[in-house]
This record gives sequence, C-alpha cells and structure tokens, in this order.
Amino acid sequence: MFELVLKNGQVFWEDSLIAADLAINGEKIAAVGFGLSGRREIDVSGRWVLPGAIDAHTHFSLPFAGAISADDFYSGSIAGAAGGVTTFIDFTAQKGDEGVLESLSRRKAEADPLVGIDYSLHACIGRYNKTVEEQLPQLAAEGVTSLKIFMAYGKSGLMQNDASLLKVLSACRQHGILITVHAENGVIIDALTDAATEAGELGIEALPKTRPVFTEVEAIRRISDFARHTGCKVYVVHVSSGDGAHTLWGERVNGSPLAGETCPQYLYLDDSMLVPPDGHLWGCCPPIRSKPQQDLLWKCLATGEIAVIATDHCPFTRADKNTWNNKITSLPMGLPGIETFPGLVLNGVHSEKLSLKRAVRAISENPARIFGLYPEKGSLIPGTDADVMIYNPDCNTPISARSMHMRTDYSPYEGLACRGRNEMTLLRGQIVFNQAEGWKGQKGGGKFLKRKATDPDFF
Ligand code: URP
Ligand code: ZN
Ligand code: ZN
Repeated sequence: MFELVLKNGQVFWEDSLIAADLAINGEKIAAVGFGLSGRREIDVSGRWVLPGAIDAHTHFSLPFAGAISADDFYSGSIAGAAGGVTTFIDFTAQKGDEGVLESLSRRKAEADPLVGIDYSLHACIGRYNKTVEEQLPQLAAEGVTSLKIFMAYGKSGLMQNDASLLKVLSACRQHGILITVHAENGVIIDALTDAATEAGELGIEALPKTRPVFTEVEAIRRISDFARHTGCKVYVVHVSSGDGAHTLWGERVNGSPLAGETCPQYLYLDDSMLVPPDGHLWGCCPPIRSKPQQDLLWKCLATGEIAVIATDHCPFTRADKNTWNNKITSLPMGLPGIETFPGLVLNGVHSEKLSLKRAVRAISENPARIFGLYPEKGSLIPGTDADVMIYNPDCNTPISARSMHMRTDYSPYEGLACRGRNEMTLLRGQIVFNQAEGWKGQKGGGKFLKRKATDPDFF
C-alpha cells in the first residue's frame, strides 16, 4: 500500500502517455503501474500526469530601468505552481567587482525565506575578473554549475567584449561550468540606438529596428566560434527568431557544443503589437519578431533544433512600464510568463505545432539534463522527486491577468484561447496548488537545489 496514488491518469512515460496509476511515498515517486492502491487516492481520470515543469530562466525582483520586476520569490513561486512549474532557476546579481560567491550568498539569503517551490540560481556576471575566475571551482562545489554572461547591454556595463568572452569560456570549460548567454550584438545595438536617439525616434517601433534579427544571428555565430574553439558548452537564452534558432542548430551540427532556449512570447506574440499607444507593454529584449520568424521558430521546436522553452519571466506593472517617457532607452524590459508557461507550450501540442514528446522534453527533461538536475527533476522515474503537474487537456480557458497570481495588472496574452490547463501541482509529494483551493504550499518550503554538471550527452 502506497501513501498516495494518482489513479487512472494518462501518465507521461517514455515520451508518450500511457493509462496508468502513479504512486508516491513521502517525497518520491514510488511506482508507475496498474491497479496500485494507496492510503490516499486521487482520481485523475482524463488528466495528463506530467513531470513538473522547470522554468530555467526567471527574474524575480530584478531592478531594470528604475523599476523592480513585480514578482518576488514568493509570488513568483505561487504563480509558477499555479501553472505547473515545480522548479525555477533565477540569477545572482554581481555588485561592482565582487566575486560570484558573494553575490550567490546574497541572492540565496533573499530567496530562501520566500521560495515556495524548488529553485536554483545561475551565477550572473557583468565583470569577469580574477576573483570570479578563482571562485569558479567553489561555485561548482556549491551546486551552481552555470554562469550567465551578456553579449549586449553595453550601456549597463554588463556586456563582455570578445577578449573577455574567450577568457571566461576557457575558464568555464576547465571547471565544467556551463555558460548561459544573452546573445545579441551589443555594439551594433548601441550604435543603432544612438542613431535613433539623435533622430529623436525612440518610440516603441524603434525596438525591433535597433535590435534587428541579424544582431541575434551574428551573436549566436560568434559565441559558437568561441564554444567550438574552447570546448565550453554554451546555452543560448531567449532565442527570439527562427533565423537565430536555425543558425544555432547549423553550428551545433558542425560540432559546436550549443543548446538553445526560446520563450512563449516569441512563439505567440509578433511585432505587429509594437505600436502606440500600448505597444511598450510588450517590450522585451530581444524584441518579439515578425510572423515568419515566429513560424520558423515553431518549426525549430518541432524538430528539436531548440531544446528548451523557458519564460524569461520579468514582469512589470502598467505603471512601471508607463514610466518609459516614450523612450525605449528608459523602458523596463520584460514580460510576465511563469504562470502561462506550461499551458501555452501544451496549447502548441493541441494546435499541432509540436508533439507532446517535444513539449515535455522542452519544459521538463531537457532543462533538467542541461542544468544538472536530471533525473531527480524533469522525470517521473520511480525513486526521484514527486514533482507532478496534473493537466486537464479538455477545457478552454481564455488567458486573463485578473484570474492569475502574477503581480502584474496585464497579460501580454490577454484573451488568448488556451486549450487545457494545469489543475494540480505536487512538489516532492505535497500538493502545493490545486484549482479549487489555490496555493497550498509554504513560504520558504522550496529547496535550493545543488546542481551537478551539465549532461555531456546532451551536447
Ligand atoms: O527583456 C528582458 N528579457 N528582460 C530581462 C533581462 C534579460 O535580458 O533577460
Ligand atoms: Zn537576456
Ligand atoms: Zn532574462
């Protein structure tokens, strides 16, 4: 007799759904099989029983252009759990010339009392210096096996130049640390932005003009050369364009150790929205792209050319966004997304944009493998953490900011008819969210996950 059995579900097993029960003892999955009995049983007939989603790219309480992203680690956890997310990976923030360990302990101290689901952090740097380099082995020993760098945001002091890219990738290769990179050519973007400033053309239409697709493609090609040369494994965050995704795959096929991530905003939103009066509410970097780029991106997902979908969750309120003074250079960039994330990806399965296998891999298994969490996270294998999303594929719920938990007063997807929704989320065997009662987890109940090195077989 098991402690808890989810009865009669459609369980995601070896890349497809099978009719089965899923049993849980304590924090772990105990068995997947038929006719299992539990002291507690929940009937999940007609529901898909999926591994909890992993959002490998969130920004809780991130300062940006004078505002702070609206979700903190607690509200973000609740919103994530409501959507079916059981683990997220956020970022540290380097102050001045400090090392990665100082920013790690500061960010952990901020997160630990608040997190309601499990989490990890990418170490994030703007300045690569001797202290950072010396601390890389200790960083990995603390379970932080990825370092985030930027090829853009020159004006905020975050951008790495080519010489620094070479140094940081060589060192990370040596210490088994995965590089995650914001790949846009910051030099060109800054030049185009300066020209737009001089011309007095900084309205929202300037966002895609100052960050054209080729700046992403060029940066992906360049980082690929550094990855190939150094042997450092590189994960490109928020690939926004089909051209970028296709370039990444071409480089990978030619021996570059690359993996790519895209986000729901690049799959569902397009640049026709970037017009006055409200287009600034859709402002993010890289910007949302044209419809043909979006179509190509879906194709790259369907074939597995893009491995991961994450959110880049960085929500601002209308009031925050409205401080922009009609200048993209003063606009808090980013969109809310953690709560709508698994639902929008699975909606793509219903609309036959990608298979269920690709969808579940992109939101659970692949991020777990790439970020050293598999199989404890990202699978339903007996013996691993019982992180589960119970998903109803047969309902239609138009997206509405008012019915969600993210601390923002608009959704970029407002009114979008999304088929299916998460009904219940279990974190390590405990129900942390269900549709009838809402949030049932605990502030501080999430756990910091010490990650292993990335799965070399993935690259
Ligand atoms: O617009 C975005 N994406 N804001 C968050 C920061 C980043 O570049 O990921
Ligand atoms: Zn970025
Ligand atoms: Zn981001």
